[in-house]
Amino acid sequence: MIVDVERVAHGGVCVAHGPDGRVVFVRHSLPGERVRVTVTDERKAYLRADAVEILQPSPARVQPPCRWAGPGRCGGCDWQHVTPDEQRRLKAVVVREQLLRLARIDIDVEVETAPGDVSGLDWRTRMRFAVDNSGRAGLRRHRSHDIEAVDDCLIAVEAVNVPDVVGRRWPRGAEVTVDVSGTGERAVAMGAPDELLTEQAAGRSWRVPIGGFWQVHPAAADLLAEVVRGMSAARDTDRCLDLYAGVGLFAGVLASQAATVVAVESDPRAAAAARLNLADLANVTVVHARVDTWVNGGVDADVVVLDPPRRGAGRAVVERLVQLAPRRVVYVACDPAALARDVATFAVGGYRLTTLRAFDLFPMTAHVECVALLER
Ligand SMILES: C[S@@+](CC[C@H](N)C(=O)[O-])C[C@H]1O[C@@H](n2cnc3c(N)ncnc32)[C@H](O)[C@@H]1O
Repeated sequence: MIVDVERVAHGGVCVAHGPDGRVVFVRHSLPGERVRVTVTDERKAYLRADAVEILQPSPARVQPPCRWAGPGRCGGCDWQHVTPDEQRRLKAVVVREQLLRLARIDIDVEVETAPGDVSGLDWRTRMRFAVDNSGRAGLRRHRSHDIEAVDDCLIAVEAVNVPDVVGRRWPRGAEVTVDVSGTGERAVAMGAPDELLTEQAAGRSWRVPIGGFWQVHPAAADLLAEVVRGMSAARDTDRCLDLYAGVGLFAGVLASQAATVVAVESDPRAAAAARLNLADLANVTVVHARVDTWVNGGVDADVVVLDPPRRGAGRAVVERLVQLAPRRVVYVACDPAALARDVATFAVGGYRLTTLRAFDLFPMTAHVECVALLER
């Protein structure tokens, strides 16, 4: 069918309406375009579809730089067909809309370019490949278990060396990770080996488990550390928490400002690496625990930094944090919808969103990183 695309929505899609009035979430389109779509998923309340022919293009449309991007192809990127400026504008609209819809907060949002980024390409330092039945590694298609047999990936840094990974033969069904560290190491692995890579950020060295969490954009760790340092504004008498701490990046930043820092991380390899990374800082304690259970113990906090996974911290954790009554909460978020839900819970508890910054740390994709300051 042919639809007129109305506005951008969360998740790399735009909203249109079908002839029966149902919402159609259209990938590979842009607001203002008239497109012919193929339906990829039909539900009672809505349809999902791919724009397969552009009848009236948006001025912001470009030829995707990657030849594996497009309807039914690699699912890694959402906005290859959009100019970098417009990608950031669309992400800003999405962040603003999530905050308005889920937290009833109306705030201007600007999505800032990652330092050093020009083209939106050549930034991904961590990749995960799936292996098809012939033993070839490739990238998953959108919302699918099918695998696109790419020869390269333009958003990956060159050192990932995609041709090397797809040129080897792997066990059928395996998952292959490639990590390239800022210090020039490269690890190609299946599973979770014991080895660590070395990253540099915030003036320190960080040991990071292969396949474990570290910011994917080369500029991200330094940038977020600096933003967290500024927003947390910790004083030398403050007791701070770094929740969902990974290998301890934000705890390392807080340690130089605050009296004490407790870093809480549930992944055993990450928690062990955090202990190693922060061993020289006498005022930091690393706890290997789930935040949702740990916060219910005897905890004090003047400043809380949290950087939860995509689903957010959730109501129970946020309600408990509100009981601790920290002066400031710095919330680092990779999903604006989860952020907005948690901000709404903080707001009920008397916290106001006073600063929001958003960064384009995942160009060409619909992902956006936000850092929110909540003050009591
Ligand atoms: C987005 S990463 C943040 C890492 C760190 N702040 C950084 O910047 O490198 C989220 C971290 O939360 C951890 N995590 C996930 N669920 C958790 C839970 N329930 N309790 C504690 N940590 C959790 C993950 O293992 C991961 O290391």
